[in-house]
Amino acid sequence: MDSIHIVGGQRLEGQIPISGAKNSALALLPCALLTNEKLTLANLPRLADVDNFSHLLNGLGASTKVDGVKPGEIGRRMTLQAKDLASTVAPYDMVRKMRASILVLGPMLARAGEATVSLPGGCAIGDRPIDLHLRALEAMGAEIELAAGYVKATAPKGRLPGGDYSFPVVSVGATENALMAAVLAKGKTQLFNAAREPEIVDLCNLLVAMGGRIDGIGSSHLIIRGVEGLHGCEYEVMPDRIEAGSYACAVGITGGSIELVGARPHDMLAITNALAAAGLIVEFSGKGIRVTADKPLRPLAISTAPYPGFPTDMQAQFMAMMCLAQGESFLEETIFENRYMHVPELRRMGASIDVRGRSAIVHGVAGLTGAKVMATDLRASMSLVLAGLAAEGETEVLRVYHLDRGYERLEEKLSAVGANIERRGS
Ligand code: EPZ
Repeated sequence: MDSIHIVGGQRLEGQIPISGAKNSALALLPCALLTNEKLTLANLPRLADVDNFSHLLNGLGASTKVDGVKPGEIGRRMTLQAKDLASTVAPYDMVRKMRASILVLGPMLARAGEATVSLPGGCAIGDRPIDLHLRALEAMGAEIELAAGYVKATAPKGRLPGGDYSFPVVSVGATENALMAAVLAKGKTQLFNAAREPEIVDLCNLLVAMGGRIDGIGSSHLIIRGVEGLHGCEYEVMPDRIEAGSYACAVGITGGSIELVGARPHDMLAITNALAAAGLIVEFSGKGIRVTADKPLRPLAISTAPYPGFPTDMQAQFMAMMCLAQGESFLEETIFENRYMHVPELRRMGASIDVRGRSAIVHGVAGLTGAKVMATDLRASMSLVLAGLAAEGETEVLRVYHLDRGYERLEEKLSAVGANIERRGS
């Protein structure tokens, strides 16, 4: 297994190109199942999760072809086509590897009138049930049965009538599955307390570009009027706000100045507000966002929340940065029940962190020391890389396959701005 080796202490200067958003790509790819025409997605990030998702779609009967990269583009261009569905079953060995596979449930149900998907099971950061996905589909007229670790959804008479559902908890994935099921329903669907993340807006914009009818895009009240069919189109994946925020934290923890090329400011105001509160200078340029750190970090009090609040996917990265702030920081993780697995590893690098339930106090220290550390989940892995960039001496991050799920060419992008970082095979 590969590992990432970092010798800390380098200031970061230059530009980092921001890739297409993983969490948008994983919601846009299954839309290929909603039409028998070609869907071309541009600016797809080169990530393990995107590759795994395209293999899942292949198993369901969709062809996927990676096209050449056009001049000036940094992401991949992929053309997908599901002329017919060869299967409506998403098997355990695929879903086990990537819980986002559950996002084929809604589109398969909409296209074929039935769908069987392995229950995803929990993951490192929590139980992560799918009850809200299933309740929303039931509200739209689906019949749901659970057996042998699989969920089977069926549309009576082959097509969902549509219906209204109010989410008791904001859920990104459940909102996405409901949207993809509703666009081809017979009637109207209203979703209340729907997720409002930029990735949801990206999905709505693609569905509308395919001929879907959605009102309230960007709000928590979505109104979808079912149509008879959707057509193919070409669509560009939005830039990754979490990747951009992660590299902004790299500047904060090491000092320096980086332009995050392609980052979209209005997607990440909660992140840039927190960066500014910590003392970084954030400038919105025509090409993206420039982040500069030239003075000691100020401590913060942060609670994660659904969009437009502070994203849970940035909590681990900010915790790493706060390890070197001048004072006590307070973090509260309100979304997932077990998203502090980076804490023991950061402590091994000299961090001083107290965790009580979903809250953490980070006592700023003068410096961190490099160590061999273990990645446990995607964003925890990034927090260890960030700590390594600032630590005295060498840090070796093991199990980098976690990183490869969500960060395209991480070591290349960081080396290009001065970091002493390399990947070593085992
Ligand atoms: C998406 O996961 C993202 N993944 C996550 O990013 C992100 O952390 C999360 O949204 C929150 O923003 C993708 O988009 C592929 P949720 P998702 O449904 O959809 C509970 C990363 O690092 N819940 O919004 O699975 C759930 O347990 C990943 O890029 C239910 O109770 O998240 C959690 O506590 C990690 N029942 C809360 O809701 C359900 O049916 C929010 O989960 C569904 C969710």
